[in-house]
Amino acid sequence: MELTYFGHSCVLLKGNKTVLVDPFAPEGELPENPDIVAVTHGHADHMGAAVALKRPTVAINEVAKYLKSKGVPAEGMNHGGTIMVEGVTFHMVQAVHSSWIEEAGIGFNGGGAAGFVIGMEGTRIYHAGDTALFSDMKLVGELCHPDIALLPIGGRFTMGPNEAMIAARYIGAPLVIPIHYNTWPVIRQDPEQFKTALERTTDIRVIILAPGEKTTV
Ligand code: NI
Ligand code: MN
Repeated sequence: MELTYFGHSCVLLKGNKTVLVDPFAPEGELPENPDIVAVTHGHADHMGAAVALKRPTVAINEVAKYLKSKGVPAEGMNHGGTIMVEGVTFHMVQAVHSSWIEEAGIGFNGGGAAGFVIGMEGTRIYHAGDTALFSDMKLVGELCHPDIALLPIGGRFTMGPNEAMIAARYIGAPLVIPIHYNTWPVIRQDPEQFKTALERTTDIRVIILAPGEKTTV
């Protein structure tokens, strides 16, 4: 499977289907017509172009309801549930974060925030979304055995690199890709330092991708 990082929290998984997670790419163009879109929560830097794309979209019930009202064929679900869309499985896990849908005026409550473990062609990818460190990440490891964990390291709105190191150990995925950093000055981090520290203290490998870069997983 091919994984392309579009910057911030946005990745495209390309196997027999294409799955675009958190379609917000301030530093480049989004891929057109992914088969499936997954949105971790209602914040604009994650929901991004979900309305404009109008693709089958997996999200928590409240966000799915909003997307449906905009004409998006959304599939609602909730924490702890699993659905299959076009042969791709989406298991929704908790994220310790808020969710708000920005719209003219005050906006809407987006329900909870989530992460996904996405299974395609036998590979399982954990996209943590925006989250603080929480010890139940151990359960994500125990239940889902992800092969890859995409973890936010930006701080301020999510966990920073120190917490992400603990998260990586809790989850136990052999490969970690840092996300949600350096988009703006307030979430500036050095991913090389994170990589060096995690690889020095564990058997986990870290791949740093620049926006637009891809890797085979
Ligand atoms: Ni957020
Ligand atoms: Mn965010």
